[in-house]
Amino acid sequence: MLQIQAKIVSNTQIARGYFKMCLDAPAVAQKAEPGQFIYVHTSNEYQPLLRRAFSVHKISHQPPVTSHQLKNKEKLKQMEILYRVRGEGTRILAEKKAGEELDIIGPLGKGFALCPLPFTLYPVLVGGGVGIAPLVFLAQNLAKNRKPRTTSLRGRPKTENRILVLIGAKTKKEILCKDEFERLGCEVKVATDDGSQGFKGKVTELLRNILASRSPFPVPRIYACGPRPMLKEIAQLAQQYEIPCQVSLEERMACGVGACRGCVIKAPSSRLPRTASLRGRHASGQKTKKPENSFVYKRVCKDGPVFETGEIIWE
Ligand SMILES: Cc1cc2nc3c(=O)[nH]c(=O)nc-3n(C[C@H](O)[C@H](O)[C@H](O)COP(=O)(O)OP(=O)(O)OC[C@H]3O[C@@H](n4cnc5c(N)ncnc54)[C@H](O)[C@@H]3O)c2cc1C
Ligand code: FES
Repeated sequence: MLQIQAKIVSNTQIARGYFKMCLDAPAVAQKAEPGQFIYVHTSNEYQPLLRRAFSVHKISHQPPVTSHQLKNKEKLKQMEILYRVRGEGTRILAEKKAGEELDIIGPLGKGFALCPLPFTLYPVLVGGGVGIAPLVFLAQNLAKNRKPRTTSLRGRPKTENRILVLIGAKTKKEILCKDEFERLGCEVKVATDDGSQGFKGKVTELLRNILASRSPFPVPRIYACGPRPMLKEIAQLAQQYEIPCQVSLEERMACGVGACRGCVIKAPSSRLPRTASLRGRHASGQKTKKPENSFVYKRVCKDGPVFETGEIIWE
């Protein structure tokens, strides 16, 4: 974890209320993993006091500039965040100009576990609204070693052998990052609430249909980020179809580094009561009852923000 002054390379509106900011922060970008976040001081003033969390959206490579970099064929890494203007902090961020500096801490948290999959099996990524942000970096990493196969017919990538990305948005104007996923070789399907593009309905309905038909290929793993009700539904679907699933949660944060416990969620406890043996029996030989409230608290900023869906008690 580093705290640095990162120079803003660009800060561009990509849709109404949505911005992409590119930061010159090679030391943080170098260490960042998909699903991790940076913690940003949006203002140089006293207010807003608390930092704001943003997922690492993308890492881009820039050509070397100094003679040392040229000699060592070093590529500079820049980092992007994708954000929606919601309140005071993001409003201030949207006003920032290229060349200004931003106080950031990162990379923070536990990101997605990139479990190896057989070459023929491809995961599904599901993003709702600005929840699509961390999935581009994830797709960048997943796509590295999983280039789409080409058919012998027309040399086109075979759709059934690609990472499938499902993007959920209210209307077609709010569909984010479609081109970027396609550039990475992913197959992209879109769901809009009003049906202005793609499937009409929630992205979870689209996922449900795909899982029901097990098409275009058996789904070995789901990665998702978006609003909590969407993630809860995806967790239920994953359980129903017995698919391992990781989700990235958003929770209001204070310290951002695991110290204040202000961002906790409930997780099932795997601990047995002290008197119980490992086989769930009391020292007397009687069966022990599972305690009714057997949960522990986990910190979204430190133990997450990415969790396996089974690690979360969905309330
Ligand atoms: C790990 C993590 C990663 C995140 N990644 C992104 C990202 O990539 N892009 C992005 O746009 N946002 C992301 N967020 C949410 C982002 O941190 C908030 O949108 C931001 O803090 C809002 O700041 P604000 O000052 O503009 O809004 P505020 O004035 O603080 O709040 C405005 C409204 O947004 C709600 N809100 C604020 N923060 C959160 C939060 N953390 N979770 C849910 N609701 C919140 C408030 O309840 C309020 O209704 C992430 C949050 C976390 C915890
Ligand atoms: S914000 Fe302090 S522990 Fe997570």
